[in-house]
Amino acid sequence: MDRIVILSGAGLSAESGLGTFRDVGGLWSQYDLADVATPEGFARDPALVHAFYNARRTNMADAPTNAAHAALARLSTYPGVTLVTQNIDDLLERAGASDVIHMHGELSRALCHVCDTRWDAPREMSPDDPCPACGAAATRPDVVWFGEMPYHMDRIDAALACTDLFVSIGTSGTVYPAAGFVDRARSAGARTLELNLEASGGSFDEVREGPATELVPRWVAETLDGP
Ligand code: APR
Repeated sequence: MDRIVILSGAGLSAESGLGTFRDVGGLWSQYDLADVATPEGFARDPALVHAFYNARRTNMADAPTNAAHAALARLSTYPGVTLVTQNIDDLLERAGASDVIHMHGELSRALCHVCDTRWDAPREMSPDDPCPACGAAATRPDVVWFGEMPYHMDRIDAALACTDLFVSIGTSGTVYPAAGFVDRARSAGARTLELNLEASGGSFDEVREGPATELVPRWVAETLDGP
């Protein structure tokens, strides 16, 4: 099978009931991202930031996986498939995927910003929580905020440099570096495909428009079982 790099975004989990960011009524129309998704916002008001992510952790726990997560989990068991997600939810893992590259971190993990220790986040985090390693009350969700470097970029760059196919699923392609992956893959010689409710306008060889729960299982079946 060809080598495949898949990049997913909030659209993958939209039909599980988790809101996207930039669609009408999306999270960034309800909250100011400068308040809840930047290191400066956290320094100003950690309680507000924890409350925002606590609510998202609760929503995640209540959200069912959908057919698109299940199809990607099935595909990810094949050699040569690299599954990268901007999503901080755990729905791909709950659908059975085991090696998901969470470039924007994970809601289910906590991070001490004094000693960099990571651990499983409780459902409710608060500014007073002590780090289990150093004891500092300096714990934050282990998510990547605006102005911070996404995780696992070396591994992602290496996969993009030698992939045959790059597939973008349910992302608006507005946040870098993820938004630049399509061009990196193309310049390395890969074919590029977008599966999205509405085309993002990125430079893809092929675009299929529709809901992830229809497009993704169909594309995975084509890839594994033939057209
Ligand atoms: N099926 C497929 N795609 C969908 C669906 C659906 N059911 N519903 C919405 N979409 C598409 C939208 O058309 C849009 O292109 O999903 C995309 C969601 O875009 P954004 O809300 O911008 O989410 P995303 O691209 O994941 O955002 C990137 O921005 O704020 C940050 O860190 C956050 O990781 C996030 C990053």
